[in-house]
Amino acid sequence: MSGLWIIGAGGHAKVAIAAAEAAGEFVAGVIDSNPALAGQRLLGHSILAQHDWSALDRAHLAIGDNKIRARLASEMPVEWVSIQHPVGWRHPSARIAEGTLVCASAIVQPDAQIGRHSIINTASVVEHDCVLGDFSFVGPRACLTGSVTLGAGCFIGAGATLCPGITLGNHVTVGAGAVVTQDIADGATVVGVPAKKIR
Ligand SMILES: CC(C)(COP(=O)(O)OP(=O)(O)OC[C@H]1O[C@@H](n2cnc3c(N)ncnc32)[C@H](O)[C@@H]1OP(=O)(O)O)[C@@H](O)C(=O)NCCC(=O)NCCS
Repeated sequence: MSGLWIIGAGGHAKVAIAAAEAAGEFVAGVIDSNPALAGQRLLGHSILAQHDWSALDRAHLAIGDNKIRARLASEMPVEWVSIQHPVGWRHPSARIAEGTLVCASAIVQPDAQIGRHSIINTASVVEHDCVLGDFSFVGPRACLTGSVTLGAGCFIGAGATLCPGITLGNHVTVGAGAVVTQDIADGATVVGVPAKKIR
């Protein structure tokens, strides 16, 4: 198996590299479009500013911004690899689509479904029967209780809780620490306890 290329050289990429190496992957290098980063190192790996995408066979998009991941995923013709940190737990019935990162101490319970290029952050919980759309972001220690449904591109802030059976539309943002008690429409941002829309 060839090495894994990490796309992105920000803080989130450090977490992805840490998880990949803990899972036994050989990280081939890091690529970032910012030429100012070229030649620097990230967790000991060289950062390349440019690359011939057709020469990459296995890669992981390690960029926290949901919209940027969505754009690059459609532009780059490579095999997208999911990463799961070995500390944590995923039930065998849970389905995790390509390019997703499940960080240390995250729990993914039975029959959960997680869409492509999602980020399930450190110590977060995705309970039974949750369905997450592509390009989801679940922040550290966030809790999606049972049967929660997220549309595409939702951002769930650190420590937020989504009550059982709640449905979020596409591109919803939930603030850190919020408790979501009712369904939320496409594009809304909600904060607080209980969560209220701010725009
Ligand atoms: C919700 C969030 C995205 C809004 O960011 P923003 O668009 O820059 O909003 P602002 O900071 O301008 O805040 C707008 C209002 O919402 C309030 N607010 C923002 N975030 C809040 C939160 N998490 N809980 C309660 N109130 C919050 C602000 O106090 C402000 O209130 P005001 O209008 O009465 O002054 C952001 O605050 C947030 O919670 N991000 C989550 C970060 C996170 O968990 N990242 C994980 C990284 S791994």
